Amino acid sequence: MSDFRKSKAWSALAAHAKKLAPQHIKDLFTEDPDRSNWGTITAAGLTLDISKNRVTRQTIDLLSALATERQVTVERDRMYAGEQVNGTEARAALHMALRGEGAAGAAITQASEAKARFLDFARRINADNSSQSHKHIDRIIHIGIGGSDLGPRLVQATLGTADQAQVHFVANIDPHELNVALDGADPAATLFIVVSKSFTTQETVENAKSAKAWLEANLPAAQNANNQFVAVTENTKAAASFGITPGRIFPFGDGVGGRFSVWSSVGLTLAITLGEDAFKEFLSGAAEMDRHFLVSPLERNLPVLLALVGVWNRNFLGIGSHAVLPYSQRLALLPSYLQQLEMESNGKSVRRNAEPANVETAPAIWGAAGTTGQHAFYQWLHQGTDLASCDIILAFGGTGQNQHNQDILVANGIAQAESLAFGRDRQATEAALAEEGLSEAEITRLAPHRTFQGNRPVTVISMDRLEPRTLGALLALYEHKVFTQGILWDINSFDQWGVELGKNLAGGVLKAITGDGPVEGFDPSTRRLINAARQTRTKTTRED
Ligand code: F6P
Repeated sequence: MSDFRKSKAWSALAAHAKKLAPQHIKDLFTEDPDRSNWGTITAAGLTLDISKNRVTRQTIDLLSALATERQVTVERDRMYAGEQVNGTEARAALHMALRGEGAAGAAITQASEAKARFLDFARRINADNSSQSHKHIDRIIHIGIGGSDLGPRLVQATLGTADQAQVHFVANIDPHELNVALDGADPAATLFIVVSKSFTTQETVENAKSAKAWLEANLPAAQNANNQFVAVTENTKAAASFGITPGRIFPFGDGVGGRFSVWSSVGLTLAITLGEDAFKEFLSGAAEMDRHFLVSPLERNLPVLLALVGVWNRNFLGIGSHAVLPYSQRLALLPSYLQQLEMESNGKSVRRNAEPANVETAPAIWGAAGTTGQHAFYQWLHQGTDLASCDIILAFGGTGQNQHNQDILVANGIAQAESLAFGRDRQATEAALAEEGLSEAEITRLAPHRTFQGNRPVTVISMDRLEPRTLGALLALYEHKVFTQGILWDINSFDQWGVELGKNLAGGVLKAITGDGPVEGFDPSTRRLINAARQTRTKTTRED
């Protein structure tokens, strides 16, 4: 079994980490005042600043050597060429083709044909809606989960405006979400976009069935419920048996994984609500990042650097938690989106050749929008006993409204990056407390509580404005980061077998809860839960 922790580049980094570990980020700035220059790189409208990480120029050189040793560029080129980089599912990863990039000729042609079809449909919906004589669709309900939900939901929240058709996203099987979406809806003016690559996902199929039942109960008798549906799927047969006509089924390609699919017909909702131009701009921003990833040298390559710094924090500094902190309410869903992208892609413990992974892989990804998160978990970030690395995302220009509040937002993001990295040592704390007029005794008592260790690694990703192009570039940046880390860890970033077991077991549990299957055979804890659910269910059903 090959252990790449013994490789030249990995060992060199391990030795380097021992030397660098005792140093504080503050000291690194004193030693190398130029670090904010070499640590800041711009591409595709985004600026990446890695200078507030515990890295030196030598660290970046050693990490770049690791990327070379692990053949990142070779694997990247294989992915761009449309080779089968997803070994366990025998598939290519063709999400770049959706934005017109990559050398996979046939895939590009297929993607652009599929794109022409769904954009045409979106155009027709919008043309109908703008006709003076009638209004066809005033509410869109997008039904899908995981990768069939998180991307469109995030992009809609980021770029959508109030005057667009009402759009709702329904992912959870919890009936509450669909009920909220249906509240006040006019059945004849509601379009259901059912998005599911497999068209077998329980939540999506059941929610789609519930939507159909609601239509059948509420549409005028002459109208066909199926006409209110559109499907985005690779399983055209299942969509057709659901009742959706072929002209309203939009496939997106077997080589496009759910969490990489927002660029495809999975984004149909966006093409309608944001319009074709904005959607194409979004794709162009991502394509610009694709080209940058393809041609830039490793040490000036945004996705590669983001991945390398992540590996440094995870594997060499032992930090297992990573906070995503967008200073933009419009990006409040970014942590959830990246949770799926990073944790479903790289939360693996088996290597591509089926050997056990002998290094730690994806950290836990979490976070919330600033400034609200500051009043919840930042205490832990600043003074907790565990470390998290952080990505702070800043869009300097706001929406043009209320510049004053926008300035406060940006100031907070910048200040948090500074305080997480630099902290405030005992001496500076004592001086600050003296300035507040505290007595000597109070200073001695409070100084330990009010000292900030700092030295929390922070990466800042900034842009002038959060718009379709920069959002596209941002999401593609993270996609390529994830791919690069997968190669560095030697895992397949494109499968997700880890979600299977729970899904399969749910079938048996459901039968036991409804009384259609045995309760015996489950472990005692599971049996107790099933019985509790059964009893309450029986009571509620009777009361109903
Ligand atoms: O959560 C597992 C998963 O397979 C995701 O990878 C996927 O995005 C999601 O379920 C939904 O799958 P589908 O698009 O097939 O409904």
